[in-house]
Amino acid sequence: MAAARLCAALIFAALCFLSHVTACVFKYGTSPDSLEAPHAGTHWDHGLNGDDWTGVDATGKPWACMSGIRQSPINLPNAETLKNRGSNIPDKFRTRWSYPTIYSNGSNVEVINTGHAIQIEWLSPFAADVAIVVPARQDSNTRITSVLGMTETDQATTVKATPLQFHFHTVSEHLVGGKHYPLELHIVHRVTDLPACTAGCFSVTGVLFELTQSEDNPFLEAIWAALPMREGAINYLPPDAEVRLEELLPPPSSREYVTYEGSLTTPPCSEGLLWHVMLKPQKISMAQWTKYKTAVGYKDCSLKNGTASAGNVHQHHHHRRSLAAEEATGNAEDYDCKVVAYGYNYRASQRLYGRAVRLAALT
Ligand SMILES: *[C@@H]1O[C@H](CO)[C@@H](O)[C@H](O)[C@H]1NC(C)=O
Ligand SMILES: *[C@@H]1O[C@H](CO)[C@@H](O)[C@H](O)[C@H]1NC(C)=O
Ligand SMILES: [Zn+2]
Repeated sequence: MAAARLCAALIFAALCFLSHVTACVFKYGTSPDSLEAPHAGTHWDHGLNGDDWTGVDATGKPWACMSGIRQSPINLPNAETLKNRGSNIPDKFRTRWSYPTIYSNGSNVEVINTGHAIQIEWLSPFAADVAIVVPARQDSNTRITSVLGMTETDQATTVKATPLQFHFHTVSEHLVGGKHYPLELHIVHRVTDLPACTAGCFSVTGVLFELTQSEDNPFLEAIWAALPMREGAINYLPPDAEVRLEELLPPPSSREYVTYEGSLTTPPCSEGLLWHVMLKPQKISMAQWTKYKTAVGYKDCSLKNGTASAGNVHQHHHHRRSLAAEEATGNAEDYDCKVVAYGYNYRASQRLYGRAVRLAALT
């Protein structure tokens, strides 16, 4: 019976094995064949799109996901609606992005299946030039989001935002005029050169992708070819592969974006982030979308022959962290897992609570 085999949580998963059911279905982020290292803080996944995100971080501090009033993502008004509201941001206050190509040498660009998303990190220097506008005169109250309150006559300067990593969500986390897109890219940046940001403030740039019935997006190809299907696994881009992040954004003349103050879209859901979401969607093919949904998919796992002793399985009670602890001893290898359903790693849209949403229109 299908319902009996689908285990909503690992606490029941252990019971599945114990009761000699052949296999159990695990949500993305809970697979027992995960290679992810154990870590402190509450376990979470996208199974309810964030509606159950109550927990604490590694230091025991409660997450802001449920208590916050400046959470992300949100349903963004479309450009026409924002124009009609007079929500435009002055052109001279636009954020500017420039990313050089990252060249792989075979061991400097990582494509990571974190169990929450597919994330790309680089180990060699990346001389990106991302400039965010802030007031010229700064004090301890100047924030990375101050540009949202600036008017035409304000004196401005810029601060440098350093990209740390980028990752993808399916479906898109932000909606535009109530519409989801199949995929959203998030480039996460840190800003440190503001008095209030010495410990690091964050700014995320979101890019939406729409489906195309034609060929693959060539600028996703190298990453997609290296997508690890197993949670916790890392693949290096092969030598001579290139990541042309610049080409995953709309061309500079088409960078119409919406900007607002929000949060991380995953626990701990920290607030105070400056968000930019590009309104012109980029392209993803059906085949590329399918591969991403498979990489974040639901897994049907069973213990391999010869490892299914009750004593062994019995250690797997309670939650996935106890499984992860055993992974270090090689138990992740005791499982055979295969994808049986597409996964979706997005957080549901959050309430706006009167926040300002501004449009950087095309000029
Ligand atoms: C590749 O780049 C990394 C990071 O810059 C470096 O540590 C490593 O030695 C390089 N490997 C090769 C094979 O050049
Ligand atoms: C597991 O063992 C059973 C019984 O010995 C056998 O029929 C089956 O083919 C084995 N499966 C695998 C994947 O080795
Ligand atoms: Zn994200």
